[in-house]
Amino acid sequence: MFQYHIRPANPGDVQVILDLIVDLATYEKEPESVKATPELLRRNLFETPYAHALVAYTGTADAPGEGIALALYFFNYSTWTGRPGMYLEDLYVKPDYRAHGIGKAIFAELGKIAQEKDCARLDWAVLKWNTPSIDFYERSLGAKPMSEWMGMRLEEQGIDNLKKFARKL
Ligand SMILES: CC(C)(COP(=O)(O)OP(=O)(O)OC[C@H]1O[C@@H](n2cnc3c(N)ncnc32)[C@H](O)[C@@H]1OP(=O)(O)O)[C@@H](O)C(=O)NCCC(=O)NCCS
Repeated sequence: MFQYHIRPANPGDVQVILDLIVDLATYEKEPESVKATPELLRRNLFETPYAHALVAYTGTADAPGEGIALALYFFNYSTWTGRPGMYLEDLYVKPDYRAHGIGKAIFAELGKIAQEKDCARLDWAVLKWNTPSIDFYERSLGAKPMSEWMGMRLEEQGIDNLKKFARKL
């Protein structure tokens, strides 16, 4: 078994984070959808922290090696529970390092943070064809699919179009 460690990301990790985001998007068959840049990540994760990241590197904290895993999350709020929630946006472990418990160790860290923040829920989305990951979530974590819910999205143009509904006072 190789050595690795998991820690909160810092601005020095932005290129590693971006590389892992691209790797996950490639696994999800949409590498061209990644528009993030090191500068956008630096600004939106560290300058104005809209989201947070955990990274895993081989080696020890004092002698780190290769960046091998990423979990990127942010907090939301549930009116039904009245409490914050954690939303896991990206989770990725490089292929050579899978099935060694890193995914579960990352979930353990996320669970610790979620409890510290009094989160009532930990939510994430998974593509329907990604059955190895769905099996892991259901079998190992006991997660429940949200099959009654359908995700909805507006992109930049859709958001801009909302102007037409503004009240004319
Ligand atoms: C899903 C993922 C993050 C899990 O990370 P991981 O480090 O491989 O997970 P772990 O080693 O902690 O294993 C978790 C469980 O899944 C199983 N597993 C993980 N990878 C596996 C593989 N390639 N083949 C078979 N089983 C696998 C493990 O045996 C383990 O099962 P157990 O709980 O019964 O012991 C990782 O496989 C991955 O990055 N996959 C590709 C990207 C992806 O799907 N990301 C999630 C998008 S929603």
